[in-house]
Amino acid sequence: MSTNQFDKKSEAWSALFSEPMSDLVKRYTASVFFDKRLWLADITGSLAHAEMLSAQKIIGAQDLADIQRGMAQIRSEIEAGSFEWKLDLEDVHLNIEARLTQLVGDAGKRLHTGRSRNDQVATDVRLWLRGEIDLITNLLVELQTALVDVAEKNVEVILPGFTHLQVAQPVSFAHHLLAYVEMFARDAERLADVRRRTNRLPLGSAALAGTTYPLDRERVAVSLGMVDDQGVAQVCQNSLDGVSDRDFAIEFTAAASLCMVHISRFSEELILWMSQNFGFVKIADRFTTGSSIMPQKKNPDVPELARGKTGRVVGHLMGLITLMKGQPLAYNKDNQEDKEPLFDTVDTLKDTLRIFAEMVGGQLNPATGAKEGGITVNAVAMEEAAKKGYATATDLADYLVKKGLPFRDAHETVAHAVKAATSHACDLSELPLTVLQGFNASIEKDVYECLSLRGSLNARNTLGGTAPAQVLTQIARHRARLA
Ligand code: ARG
Repeated sequence: MSTNQFDKKSEAWSALFSEPMSDLVKRYTASVFFDKRLWLADITGSLAHAEMLSAQKIIGAQDLADIQRGMAQIRSEIEAGSFEWKLDLEDVHLNIEARLTQLVGDAGKRLHTGRSRNDQVATDVRLWLRGEIDLITNLLVELQTALVDVAEKNVEVILPGFTHLQVAQPVSFAHHLLAYVEMFARDAERLADVRRRTNRLPLGSAALAGTTYPLDRERVAVSLGMVDDQGVAQVCQNSLDGVSDRDFAIEFTAAASLCMVHISRFSEELILWMSQNFGFVKIADRFTTGSSIMPQKKNPDVPELARGKTGRVVGHLMGLITLMKGQPLAYNKDNQEDKEPLFDTVDTLKDTLRIFAEMVGGQLNPATGAKEGGITVNAVAMEEAAKKGYATATDLADYLVKKGLPFRDAHETVAHAVKAATSHACDLSELPLTVLQGFNASIEKDVYECLSLRGSLNARNTLGGTAPAQVLTQIARHRARLA
């Protein structure tokens, strides 16, 4: 039977095959139920290809018009949910092409001229990922903005800064939050870099060796927005490489993993801070759950899940990088396995960033125009905790250095003072002046300024330090950057 369409993928390649695939093999090899999410990229890429084929007189103007009409209909069918995805047609590419041919006849069959599914899928994944990178970048801006908002309200709030989870030195809570802003800013930089290498056109590589048709690959690249900052077309320069490497997807997943690791560190801190033993912050009830047995519980499920999902994303990175290892040039079907980890990485990261932006910064109340329900800070609990671990001991050492003591001697002197304070169960700032002078005669009344938490904070007034003046400068810098 000669038809203008094919219903099964075997009809997409010929009479060479003498037996049909078993249902199990069909299911094993098919990707349509996950790669159908590439449909818009697939149509966009096909339209750019067809437009170039027509401009190069490889297909006729009428063919192009038919393809455009057919694709417009397919688009509305998919959007309406009425498009029938067929497992028999294996993947998104064959499903769309078959429907096109059914709708417009021979023009549909001409679309695949000078193209292979190998360069087609590589193009689709890149186009799709480029769009997702842009969405993730916006979400990173939202999360950073939420953190800066909370930071701005807490510049003077003192938190015990930890090293080894032991009280180390007092820091501004804003300063602590801005550390995460730095991390997320770098995540965004990394994504921008990955985007540059993702935004290159494989189409025209055909199956692996290029094609005999006089394609204009640069034209396709420009029409798909695959251009650099100067508007110069970005085209994969080696056909074997263009169809086969997925390093852009691996890089993306690596960048996503790092971003999740940053989220995970923040989650861990939120979980600690929310525990009764710290009591530093609260998050809104809608991000927590109760216990089925212990009525008093409010568990930080969202941060815990985010910490858990970090493992999942890092796992996808391992999956993708291992997928690439050992593949000979050029395209191999192994590469079909790139999609689920990539898709799940994108979904997980986007959901996580969205939830965290809201959990930290709150939700916009349209009535007041203000954000509500973000993180609640218990400044008193933080300050009380900062008073507990001799957080200003370094300040006393620095004080003695300014009086002329070598730092190592000052360090030793302060260790004795801390020991004394510990035995009196009091803070260094609570030791009488005469006792302090017993450790070093040069100590005067002004020592109490440097032994106070606020004095300690204000004293760290160098670039990148925790003094409120520095923190305000950083907030202004981030505001300008994020605007
Ligand atoms: N579904 C395939 C993939 O995701 C499309 C490319 C198939 N190419 C081939 N020669 N079988 O990689």
